[in-house]
This record gives sequence, structure tokens and C-alpha cells, in this order.
Amino acid sequence: MSDAGVVVVQGGRVVNAEYSEQADVLIEGGVVRAVGPALPVPAGARLVSAHGRLVLPGGVDPHTHMELPFMGTRAVDDFYQGTRAALAGGTTMIVDFVLGARGISLLDAFRTWRGWADPNVCCDYSLHVGVTWWSEQVSEEMGVLVRSEGVNSFKAFMAYKEAFMLRDPELFSVFRRCKELGAIAQVHAENGDLIAEGEKEMLERGITGPEGHELCRPEVVEAEATNRAITIAGRARCPLYVVHVMSKAAAGVIARARRAGQVVFGEPIAAGLGTDGTHYWHRDWRHAAAYVMGPPLRPDPTTPGYLMDLLANDDLSTTGTDNCTFNACQKAMGKDDFTKIPNGVNGVEDRMSVIWERGVHSGKMDENRFVAVTSTNAAKIFNLHPRKGRIAPGCDADLVVWNPNATRTISARTHHQAVDFNIFEGMECHGVADVTISRGRVVWEGGLLAPDLRGTGRYVPRAAFPDYAYQRIRAQDQANQPRAVEREPYQGPVLAPDA
Ligand code: URP
Ligand code: ZN
Ligand code: ZN
Ligand code: ZN
Repeated sequence: MSDAGVVVVQGGRVVNAEYSEQADVLIEGGVVRAVGPALPVPAGARLVSAHGRLVLPGGVDPHTHMELPFMGTRAVDDFYQGTRAALAGGTTMIVDFVLGARGISLLDAFRTWRGWADPNVCCDYSLHVGVTWWSEQVSEEMGVLVRSEGVNSFKAFMAYKEAFMLRDPELFSVFRRCKELGAIAQVHAENGDLIAEGEKEMLERGITGPEGHELCRPEVVEAEATNRAITIAGRARCPLYVVHVMSKAAAGVIARARRAGQVVFGEPIAAGLGTDGTHYWHRDWRHAAAYVMGPPLRPDPTTPGYLMDLLANDDLSTTGTDNCTFNACQKAMGKDDFTKIPNGVNGVEDRMSVIWERGVHSGKMDENRFVAVTSTNAAKIFNLHPRKGRIAPGCDADLVVWNPNATRTISARTHHQAVDFNIFEGMECHGVADVTISRGRVVWEGGLLAPDLRGTGRYVPRAAFPDYAYQRIRAQDQANQPRAVEREPYQGPVLAPDA
């Protein structure tokens, strides 16, 4: 394993979102210094062979929940083990979510998350902030977070009634504030009222197992909320990022809005692209419960392929994981009542391989689109580009030597995550990270992680008004300004209102 000295990655095919080229990559001090054929090797440089391999920007996972306190327990993959696992799978940056309870200061919650992450992360990270309640204080704190703490994205929830859920006028206020600040509004789009009614109905019918989780949240519950969020963001003229798009119906709503010119981005996740909701009907309770997450995986087995088609064709834009993991004993908090099963699944380690297998190996997308949806697009939307999501002089040296021909079989027995179950168990994937380089340091090689990674990642602040979203918003604001009609004053009689 090597320190962040001089490294030359030799003989690979360097893949960016726009094009690929046969080139070496010279890295110094954690930054890419040169990309080109047959680069001279400085004395003392560490050589990494990439002959016959691809050299990709390290994955950016824009949606994780490491050690999240949630539903009466805490996610088992913490910032240390979760980010180690990310590196083993070729992901070199995560964006996690600060999710404070209703009534808690956003700034205090942000500092709490920094306190958990900073000493422990093994790769670079950034933080979105959840707006779980609304007040003048929240509005002011959003401003401080944008101006002073490098936050440019805020997540609002339309589900988790009694916990995080906001009502439509609050959503409108959050989106308008995002617009003012130059932030990206993010939304968890499910109709929380209908879910609450559905939960009651299922329990009354005696359906207490994990299948009840999906039955009370059918696709329409996700699609309705997605449409409502897009409508509200449209009225606020704010860019919108829909996290964890899980259904054909919701994806269709996003695709239509994009075709109508709205600035909206959809994020399917590894779980939704790699497996499906038929598992909720599994006879083994523990197996079925392992897949419980919100919105649920869909029992229609054609859903993953459909979401991948839309991702390949730019109807959907990025891929996350929503990595939020709970062990069997934690899931068992809901053994007699599915509403108490902590929601969340794994993905941070396996996302790159699952998407390569189902997206590239299947022939749906090429290597450049793979890079776009696993790093570049998220980096552009959240204003990390070109520092992240690109291999070019001046970019952070976060990259992966990727073997598209090797295969690996995913298993909880061999994964690096803390969780005791893997929702992709047994899946054979083409596409394996041979070497991962984080900030110029070889951190994963020959199936081994560097031993001293704790705390080596850094918090990456993000500036407001990312061009990728706000250029079009600005132009649309200019082009679509409402204007009063100039007319002569009305001179006729005016009826006096009845007393
Ligand atoms: O089931 C999920 N998605 N758990 C994490 C919290 C969230 O809504 O993203
Ligand atoms: Zn969510
Ligand atoms: Zn199953
Ligand atoms: Zn999430």
C-alpha cells in the first residue's frame, strides 16, 4: 500500500463520461497531474498496472445513511466500516444525510454528524441536510449551512408521518428557500397519509409480515407524491432531485417532467436496479424483512430492467444506494408488526458491480454512461465536478482500476460491510475493482484494504448554485417572467358591493 506520493497508473483505458482514451495517469499529492500516453515516470514513483483494464473515476454514492439513528435503533454500518466497504467496491466518495429529529436545530444536527464522520471516514464525504420540520429558525439555519458549511442540498420527506413528514405548504417553503440559496431540493416521495391508512388496514386484516410493508405502499403512493413534489418544485421554480426512485410509475412521472423541460433528476438505487420486491413474500421471515425499505422494492420483476433502461437513456440521472443497514436482531423489532421493522438495505459496496453487470454487461449502457451514472452526474448536480467524477489534470486522484471481464459473487460471507445479510446474495457480477485509489493513495489492492484508513477521508464542502442545475433555472426565470398586460383603465360603471 502506498502513501499519497507519486503514483503512475500505466497502460489503462481512461474512461470519462464524454470519451475514453488509452492513457497513463500521473498522480502527485493526491491530485491528478497529467493524463496521456506513455507518460515519463518520475524517480521513486509507485507504478500501478492497468494493462487490459479500465481506469474510471471513483464512484460517488450520493445517498447513504451511515450509523443513522432510525426507528428505535441505529444503522450498523458506521462511517468507518461503511466507507471501507465503499472503497473495496470502487466507490471513493459518499454523500450522507444529516437527519435530526423534528424540533432539533439543523446546525446542531450537522455538527453531530460531522463529529461522527470526521474521525472515522476512510474516503471523502459530504453531507446533505434533512429538513424534518419547518420554522423561521430552520429557514435561517439553511442559510448558514449554505453560506458557511458547504451544504447545497436539503432533503424533505413526504412520508414518515409523525416523524419527518412535511405538508405541501411546508414543502413549498423549503423548495422556495432552496431556490433563494441556490441549493438542490431533494425529496423522499411517498404519500405518508395513505401509507398510515394502509398500515392500519393491513394490520386489521391480520397481515403483520414484511409483505404488508409493500401492500400498503403500492406504486401509486410513490407516483402520486413524485408528481406532487415535481408540481410544487415547478411552482417554486427550484431544481428537484428525487431520491430512491423505486417504481416504474414514479420513474415515468420524472421522465415526463424532464421531457417537459423541468429541472428534475431521478436517482434509482442499487437495490432497485439489482433485485426486486418478490422477496417480501419469502417464507423465511428474516429473509423477507431484510429487504424492507421505503419506498419498497416492487414485486413486479420487470421493474429493475425498466429502471435501468430509463437510467441508460437519461430519463433517470444518477445511482445511489440508500445504504442503511440493520442486522437480524434489529429487523426483528418488527417480527409481529411490519411497521416496526427498521427500513433500510445495503448497497454501498456492491453498487458499482451491480450496475456494471445489469447496465453495461447486459448491453444497455456503454462505459461512458456507466461513469456518468456512477459518479459524474452526481458530482455535477451537487457541485463537486470536476474535482470528483472526472479524471483530468487538477482533479482529485480518486480512481478505480476496473476489470470488466473478472467476475465476483456477492455474499454477506465475504463483503466488508458490518451488516449480517446481503440483498444481492449469490449474484454473479462482471466488473470488479482491482485497485482503488483515494486522494492519490492505493487503498484497495489484491483483495486487501489498507490497514490504517480510519479518518483519512475529508469533508468536501460544496458551493451553492451548481451550473448543471441553475443555468437552466436562471434562463427559465428570465424567459418565463410573468408580465402584466398594459391596458387603458376601465372607465365604466362599478357596482357597489352589497352591504
Ligand atoms: O428505507 C429507507 N430508505 N431508509 C433510510 C431512510 C430514507 O428514507 O432514505
Ligand atoms: Zn428517503
Ligand atoms: Zn428471496
Ligand atoms: Zn435514504
